[in-house]
Amino acid sequence: MTLILGIETSCDETAAAVIEDGRTIRSNVVASQIDLHAQFGGVFPEMASRAHIEAMAPVVEQAVTNSGVAYSDLDAIAVTRGPGLVGSLLVGVNYAKGVALAAGKPLLGINHLEGHVYSLWLTEPQREIIFPVLVLIVSGGHSELLLMRDHGVYERLGGTLDDAAGEAFDKVGRMLGLPFPGGPNIQRAAQNGNAAAYNFPRAKRDTSYDFSFSGLKTAVMREVTVQPTADKRRKRGGNKAPKLRSDVSVNDVAASFQAALVESLVEKTVRAARAYEVTEILMAGGVSANSALRQALRAESELPVRYPPLNLCTDNAAMIAAAAHYRFLGGLRDDWDMDVYPNWPLSSHTYKTQE
Ligand code: KG4
Ligand code: ZN
Repeated sequence: MTLILGIETSCDETAAAVIEDGRTIRSNVVASQIDLHAQFGGVFPEMASRAHIEAMAPVVEQAVTNSGVAYSDLDAIAVTRGPGLVGSLLVGVNYAKGVALAAGKPLLGINHLEGHVYSLWLTEPQREIIFPVLVLIVSGGHSELLLMRDHGVYERLGGTLDDAAGEAFDKVGRMLGLPFPGGPNIQRAAQNGNAAAYNFPRAKRDTSYDFSFSGLKTAVMREVTVQPTADKRRKRGGNKAPKLRSDVSVNDVAASFQAALVESLVEKTVRAARAYEVTEILMAGGVSANSALRQALRAESELPVRYPPLNLCTDNAAMIAAAAHYRFLGGLRDDWDMDVYPNWPLSSHTYKTQE
């Protein structure tokens, strides 16, 4: 049996978890900072690092206690090294080094996106996943379409050229005066709205597997906000949030925006799944919690579509420990001078025993 403690602090959740054999959750603790950042309408990096420092030790202690194992029973300590906010990542990486040194355990730095991929291995622990699979990662910071041929072997087929899907949800949510984060609140508003009320553009109808959401965001902005004259804009200052037009139905805009974004994601994902003859489509990341996206992808794809339960869609440390499992088995370890890697792209790793 392999037991790995995972630690995640890349953005606004302080999280720790213990995972058995890469697939079974022994404990999974998440301290969310959503309430802290909601007042600013987005994640405030400096406050995020401070909050991580306060929450880190109790969250890890709780995860170890809940798992029913002792530090001495652990095989390795895994921590998110990137991508993410530099100050936030530093808190997790330094804490993980401390725990690993004190307990005499190896340290593994994990890519946050690879963590999202491995949330699917925790979703149905008994079910075998047969490669190749297509992976759609849609989160607040990333929208990536990947062909996964084996553990740790990824081919990037495409991704967003501008805003991430979750970022688009959050920005449009802000325009509509909805609380942060925009995603779940737009989904709620959309349930009472007419998705055909506005015909927003479907992004990038071309043969690539890239997405683009900034045009959609701008189209929504033009439609729903009062466009100030150049003179007024100068007086108001550049940074003020634009004013919502009084005759706009927030529910209809939410539903129409969500439909446009979902259609773009689904079209490219289904086309890639057909082209690469995968066995199934795996979807992960915060936006994979979206019920309209889940429904549309299931309806359009002839292949099985899998996504994690809601608590594993958004950031957590269980997925980090699960991703670490296969690296650990392959003999990969990181050194004590391992640094954070805020722009770490998801590249292929070969899990061969290190020389
Ligand atoms: O994966 P995640 O927790 O953090 C990142 O790694 O970025 O994703 C957070 C993002 C936010 O942009 C949030 O608005 C979005 O996921 N989100 C949703 C839903 N729940 C969370 N977007 C659409 N519909 C949802 N139900
Ligand atoms: Zn994430």
